[in-house]
Amino acid sequence: MGESGIESVLSENRTFSPPAVPGGKSPRWHLSSMEDYRREWKRSIDDPEGFWDEIAHELHWFSPWSRVLEWNLPDAKWFVGGTTNLCYNAVDRHVVSGHGEETAIIWEGEPVGPAGPEIRRLTYAQLQQEIARFANGLKSLGVAKGDVVTIYMGMVPELAIAMLACARIGAAHSVIFGGFSSQAIVDRVLDARSRVIVTCDGAWRRGKVVPLKANVDEACDVLASHGHTVTSVITLIRTANTVAMTPGRDHDWHALTGAASPDCPCEPLDSEQMLFLLYTSGSTGKPKGILHTTGGYMVHTYLTSKYVFNLHPDAGQVFWCTADCGWVTGHSYIVYGILPNRVPTLMYEGAPNYPAEDRFWDICARHKVTQFYTAPTAIRAFMKWGDHHPAQHDLSTLQVLGTVGEPINPEAWMWYRRHIGHDRCPIVDTWWQTETGGHMITPLPGVTPTKPGSCTLPFFGVDAAIVDDQGVEQPHKHGGLLVIRRPWPSMLRGIYGDRQRYIETYWSRVPGMYLAGDGAHRDSDGYFWIMGRIDDVINVSGHRLGTMEVESALVSHPGVAEAAVVGMPHEIKGTGIAAFVTLRPTHTPPDAAAAEKFKNTLAAHVAHEIGAIARPDMIRFTDALPKTRSGKIMRRLLRAIAAGEEKITQDTTTLEDFSILAKLREQDEA
Ligand code: WTA
Repeated sequence: MGESGIESVLSENRTFSPPAVPGGKSPRWHLSSMEDYRREWKRSIDDPEGFWDEIAHELHWFSPWSRVLEWNLPDAKWFVGGTTNLCYNAVDRHVVSGHGEETAIIWEGEPVGPAGPEIRRLTYAQLQQEIARFANGLKSLGVAKGDVVTIYMGMVPELAIAMLACARIGAAHSVIFGGFSSQAIVDRVLDARSRVIVTCDGAWRRGKVVPLKANVDEACDVLASHGHTVTSVITLIRTANTVAMTPGRDHDWHALTGAASPDCPCEPLDSEQMLFLLYTSGSTGKPKGILHTTGGYMVHTYLTSKYVFNLHPDAGQVFWCTADCGWVTGHSYIVYGILPNRVPTLMYEGAPNYPAEDRFWDICARHKVTQFYTAPTAIRAFMKWGDHHPAQHDLSTLQVLGTVGEPINPEAWMWYRRHIGHDRCPIVDTWWQTETGGHMITPLPGVTPTKPGSCTLPFFGVDAAIVDDQGVEQPHKHGGLLVIRRPWPSMLRGIYGDRQRYIETYWSRVPGMYLAGDGAHRDSDGYFWIMGRIDDVINVSGHRLGTMEVESALVSHPGVAEAAVVGMPHEIKGTGIAAFVTLRPTHTPPDAAAAEKFKNTLAAHVAHEIGAIARPDMIRFTDALPKTRSGKIMRRLLRAIAAGEEKITQDTTTLEDFSILAKLREQDEA
């Protein structure tokens, strides 16, 4: 166990060689052997500028770059001086080259009527028109290059259209996951100083309507009390949910686009023009706005999409990533990386178990999905729901299966391979982050031998390593810090408005290297095994949450004096949320029933403050929290207690009050 306190307990010896020939009607693999991979990877590391220069030429630029990379740690500029437009490369380029009538987006709604679910297919030409109209609509509301447009919508095609419209005119978007609360909107809008919000009346989720517009209205009121005015709210009517429209501020999507011209040329944008902000959790109570720019992000997501999923235009492929566009996975692998590859991208609006637990397999079969990309938490849910659900659908079109978001346990990996991939499809376990923009460590299908639970080897141009705090590379099987030692095109360019935090979070602990915040080790084949976060971030159902965020939500309740939140093992979520709470005397419950009731109140309070994903799975009231003599909460102890560990083997010599431990454990048995 090293400085980072990381110990590897997993021992997995199964290895699966890649299928020599792709199954079904799959086109050939992009690479033909591991030697190909190693040679290309070495070239990309020895001569990154030459490598990326060549790749960038596969896309359209309005004017060429003068330098591929300018690197002044911690600031990277890629394709310096070049101008391009990601929307042009995703959409217009295909229209110009004569593919306008091909399908760009396949969308399926959640509700299933007597005639089946609602399905929309948008061709590149239609998409181009819709984007152009909406972009003109944004312009008519005064949105200009560099402005931040907030998007808080359900999974409808208009969400992708709104993102691409921003990219078209050089406005940046900040997409907020529709499951977040109005308070989350307030924090993000304020931080980004955004004045325009795009939303829906509501979003379908498991047969119910999530009141998105009402949340936006509530947020706008709170923002006004902070002195921040939202000047325009654009609402797409999706669910016929009744909404209030504020005259002067609120606009109906269709009224706005109906009045707008379908002619809006793509703005030639500097390669380093801000493309989007995406807020993600860190070690403090405040989410950080991860900033991505245009050129490098475009090239990296394009290339990873192509190689990792084996995408080929004109090969009848249908790519489906089940993420929500509110997360980085939806940005990079529903929209920005996939569309430039000219393979249709499928968007599904709703829940995996609506109306029944076979919905995903039903979608795969009906749309003849060829690439399927999901999260380990979903796979664990599928396992629990039963093998018979996928078994009753034709999954023979599948070619490549992917996972992302958290370490996948080998049993879930094996189940995925057997029951979804029928032992025929390679699994790509892709490690990356909001900050990295695109895949970093991942198998390449048809090439990389895979091991259940390992994300295998670095992608082209990625110099990943496991090091100690001094930056010294660790021997195989030694846990350490996962770092990236040189810049890559889609790396974050900063934390919006917080230079100091950018430097401290990513560039300070190990001098000269990007700190991912994950612990990992490599095996004797050099394969990477991710062991989890090293900071106060927990990964709940593949979604990052700062324990501090949940703690601040808890203490914002008048009944709570102090709270400590840790992760605990959870069958489906991977990690669940355990909260240890000390109450104010005024709120001490008189009996067990009242205590249970108050726990529910607090759980609902957290869900209201942050969103349902942050609702604690376990709340425990305690008289005091275990602290060191200097007053630091001993989270390791709480983690052990939350995990129900029989014996606390942790070092407790710094614990201030030993009786607390006994009390917390007593409660455990109660
Ligand atoms: C975790 C999601 C193991 C990791 C794209 C990382 C993973 C965090 C994997 C980023 C994987 C993501 N194996 N762990 N294949 N992929 N993670 O920003 O802890 O939402 O730091 O990006 O998820 O989460 P984020």
